[in-house]
Amino acid sequence: MVQILVLTALAAVLPLITAQQIGTQTPNVNPSLPTWKCTTAGGCIQQNTSVVIDWNYHWIHTVNGSASCTTSTGVNSTLCPTEAVCAQNCAIEGVDYASAGVTTSGNALTLHQYVQSNGVTSNASPRVYLLGADGNYEMLQLLGQELRFDVDVSTLVCGENGALYLSEMLATGGRSQYNPGGASYGSGYCDAQCPVQNWINGTLNTGNEGACCNEMDIWEANANATALTPHPCEGDTCDKSGCGFNPYAMGNTSYYGNGGTVDTLKPITVITQFYTTDGTTTGTLSEIRRLYIQNGKVIKNAVSTSGLDSITASWCSSSDATAASLGGLTTMGQSLGRGMVLIFSIWNDNGQYMNWLDSGSSGPCNASEGNPTLIESKTPGTYTTFSNIRWGDIGSTFDQGTGGGSGSSSSSSSGSSSSRATSVTSITSVRSATTTTASSRAATTTTASNGGTAGHWSQCGGVGWAGATVCATGYTCQAQNPYYSQCL
Ligand SMILES: *[C@@H]1O[C@H](CO)[C@@H](O)[C@H](O)[C@H]1NC(C)=O
Ligand SMILES: *[C@@H]1O[C@H](CO)[C@@H](O)[C@H](O)[C@H]1NC(C)=O
Ligand SMILES: *[C@@H]1O[C@H](CO)[C@@H](O)[C@H](O)[C@H]1NC(C)=O
Ligand SMILES: *[C@@H]1O[C@H](CO)[C@@H](O)[C@H](O)[C@H]1NC(C)=O
Ligand SMILES: *[C@@H]1O[C@H](CO)[C@@H](O)[C@H](O)[C@H]1NC(C)=O
Ligand SMILES: *[C@@H]1O[C@H](CO)[C@@H](O)[C@H](O)[C@H]1NC(C)=O
Ligand SMILES: *[C@@H]1O[C@H](CO)[C@@H](O)[C@H](O)[C@H]1NC(C)=O
Repeated sequence: MVQILVLTALAAVLPLITAQQIGTQTPNVNPSLPTWKCTTAGGCIQQNTSVVIDWNYHWIHTVNGSASCTTSTGVNSTLCPTEAVCAQNCAIEGVDYASAGVTTSGNALTLHQYVQSNGVTSNASPRVYLLGADGNYEMLQLLGQELRFDVDVSTLVCGENGALYLSEMLATGGRSQYNPGGASYGSGYCDAQCPVQNWINGTLNTGNEGACCNEMDIWEANANATALTPHPCEGDTCDKSGCGFNPYAMGNTSYYGNGGTVDTLKPITVITQFYTTDGTTTGTLSEIRRLYIQNGKVIKNAVSTSGLDSITASWCSSSDATAASLGGLTTMGQSLGRGMVLIFSIWNDNGQYMNWLDSGSSGPCNASEGNPTLIESKTPGTYTTFSNIRWGDIGSTFDQGTGGGSGSSSSSSSGSSSSRATSVTSITSVRSATTTTASSRAATTTTASNGGTAGHWSQCGGVGWAGATVCATGYTCQAQNPYYSQCL
């Protein structure tokens, strides 16, 4: 009897220590999105990655009720006067991804700007992060390496931005005693615009701080314009505009678009290469190169009116004084070397209508057609699909010989046979597959654990959990509720 009483008392105390932050109403099922890591010698190996939607898209409410801990302007200061009290009072829920505008099918991720429910259109504008099997963000180290993906921008109209980019977030998402969910709940966002958000590292942003970090915009695009832009930072000073390469802005106005050299009505394979001065993965970043593949042919990057066809360190620093003052490509390269989180988003912009990307000297769009109200009424179905994401040694993620392949020939890229079909068929199958999301979500929930060790505070089990179930030495996996077990 005595022993039982002691155990009960302990169990009652534990949630207070760990903060009752994990809700029990919607399971946190992060949609599976396999990716590949490639080497020249070993070919491509499939990674058991998934995507998680940003923290702010999750419902955060009172632990014993359904009152929201957030308000239209911030956080409820009665429920959340301090980090510790907020963590005791509030719980974060999982998200229904389809209604948040996110679907996955095989190795393809589709993001919708708007979603419809019972005939009502609402703005979804999701932003998601690539998560590793251990419940932390997958850290891509791209210095001296390349990244490849296929993209469908055919329905992204003027004013839309379908983005694939990197930010130097913490791998854990800032997981802590006040934020046990961490990366598996999408916390810890930062970028070179230094956004001021309600939450920082998944806890109360008491100091109203901006979350600044190095950002590498690999792809910001719609059917009419595209930009590739490094944004280096030093501390809380960032290059907000960046030294970007947009073919139209560089004077090559017929290169990218409907019927252009790169034809945006068709699927596009995009390869971005980060060259160092000495060819190693630890050297100084000297050049960022871009290649495209369409119809089985490698297409060289646009040549600007001044003859430039890549972002070189000298061009970045000479064209952008802020980049120069922050160390330019050298600083960007150091961040790429340490590792950055892969981010996917779709958004439009009420203030500027995305004119900086696709209008005036940057693109063919008329300055007012990017108005979100117009987009919502004329093309509410606008979406983008990213698929077949691979990174690794330069030249290892695509077939340089014929140009049409989607990876070096290796039997180790098992499960990718369908992804090796031409881009055209893979995108077609993605489209028809988006309606079968329910079954792919159901499948995700039954996926067995797939390796890795979970660290202190990390998730190690619960309904829908497909990540690591073994805790690092010194910690044990303890159930907090049916949806969440964590390493304590
Ligand atoms: C904040 O939460 C308290 C307690 O649930 C509630 O009474 C109050 O109305 C909330 N305030 C706002 C602005 O939502
Ligand atoms: C939630 O309910 C439990 C059980 O009734 C209670 O022990 C706990 O104090 C409540 N928590 C809050 C923050 O109200
Ligand atoms: C997030 O937490 C980490 C340590 O866990 C800290 O170094 C970092 O400064 C925090 N970020 C912000 C923006 O406060
Ligand atoms: C645009 O870039 C292509 C390289 O893909 C080049 O052949 C062409 O001359 C460029 N056009 C202009 C107008 O600079
Ligand atoms: C933008 O792209 C769409 C789709 O290809 C095309 O229909 C439209 O004419 C383009 N707009 C401009 C201004 O070029
Ligand atoms: C720009 O687009 C808007 C909205 O489609 C249209 O009303 C306007 O006439 C267009 N302006 C020009 C100069 O084409
Ligand atoms: C991915 O999961 C499968 C099935 O659980 C496993 O066999 C494979 O080793 C995992 N891959 C990696 C890279 O961990």
